[in-house]
Amino acid sequence: MLGSLKPQPADKILALMGEFRADPRKDKIDLGVGVYRNAEGVTPIMRAVKAAEKLLWESETTKTYTGLAGDPAFNAAMADLVLGEAAGAERIASVATPGGTGACRQAFELIRMAAPAATVWVSDPTWPNHLSMLRHLGVPMRPYRYFDADSRAVDFAAMMADLAQVRAGDVVLLHGCCHNPTGANLTLPEWQAVAELMERTGAIPMIDIAYQGFGDGLEEDAAGLRLLAARLPEMLIAASCSKNFGIYRERTGALIALCDPAPREVVQGTLAHLNRQNFSFPPDHGARLVTIILGDPALRADWQAELEEVRLGMLALRRQLAEALQEAAGSDRFGFIAQHRGMFSRLGATPEQVERLKREHGIYLVGDSRLNIAGLNARTVPILARAVVAVGI
Ligand code: LMR
Repeated sequence: MLGSLKPQPADKILALMGEFRADPRKDKIDLGVGVYRNAEGVTPIMRAVKAAEKLLWESETTKTYTGLAGDPAFNAAMADLVLGEAAGAERIASVATPGGTGACRQAFELIRMAAPAATVWVSDPTWPNHLSMLRHLGVPMRPYRYFDADSRAVDFAAMMADLAQVRAGDVVLLHGCCHNPTGANLTLPEWQAVAELMERTGAIPMIDIAYQGFGDGLEEDAAGLRLLAARLPEMLIAASCSKNFGIYRERTGALIALCDPAPREVVQGTLAHLNRQNFSFPPDHGARLVTIILGDPALRADWQAELEEVRLGMLALRRQLAEALQEAAGSDRFGFIAQHRGMFSRLGATPEQVERLKREHGIYLVGDSRLNIAGLNARTVPILARAVVAVGI
């Protein structure tokens, strides 16, 4: 049986992680996988997370199973964090999932179950694992144009022209903030226009929000999603705690489904059923940390303060890199880096140029020239700027 298996295509982001680790050069720079690093190159455990772990260690009395949907207090805290006042509890069904990826996977399964003929529309480009999971599950998908390669901004006219073709019941996958891989995001008036299009066509939005708090702020990053939630009857949200709580390996996320109050119980039961089919009970440790932090005013304030430091640090690096590139290139063609938000920007380099950055300069970017801003620091910004110009980007 097992001898019949064919090699699977490697995930390009994870393959790059392996290549970087194997590179013996001491001055190599990892701008690949989307993991935050501070100026010392460390992915720190946030202060509030450490404090919550201590509290949990002191107070936890059992490791018995939680519910299939996870801890209800976590689900409520996540709905509040993501949705704010935009939707009442009577419309919300939600489950804890293994990270944001787990939430996306469960959402895609839910779509396949509820509407097997629906097409999922994905931005071109999007996070490669969206495409890979949809393909794996056999869910029909279509791309919509999103990124203008020349200006490195959202091509909103093209996006709306493509989305004008959606049919009622199709699902449109949008990045809540900090678009991965481009860093180019919708403005609030553009979210408004998307909401109108959804209303007009009867399509259903699915929002992947993996970087809330990394773009313009915790509330600002959820504003587009909340606008859709307040206007549309149905919506799916895949939320991740990996980045904004820095608990990557704890696999903490939530799938939230907004629906009419009448079918809410069936939707909730279906989400729990899907958890049971795939992994049974969701991981609990990270979820409990998040619940403790969000429920304790002092810890919450400290978490928000540290998250804000992280966000402002990335914004400062964006400005420094844009300036260093302006100096090195003698032009402001890289000004878009300061406009983008979140961890990523797409530089707009060819695969050959990305390969040369790796080979000749030990600088690792994803092949589509996605750059992780949080992998940089004040020392490496000018090194990258000189290398970018040296390979002719
Ligand atoms: C990324 O895009 O680099 C992150 O979301 C990590 C991952 O799982 O790909």
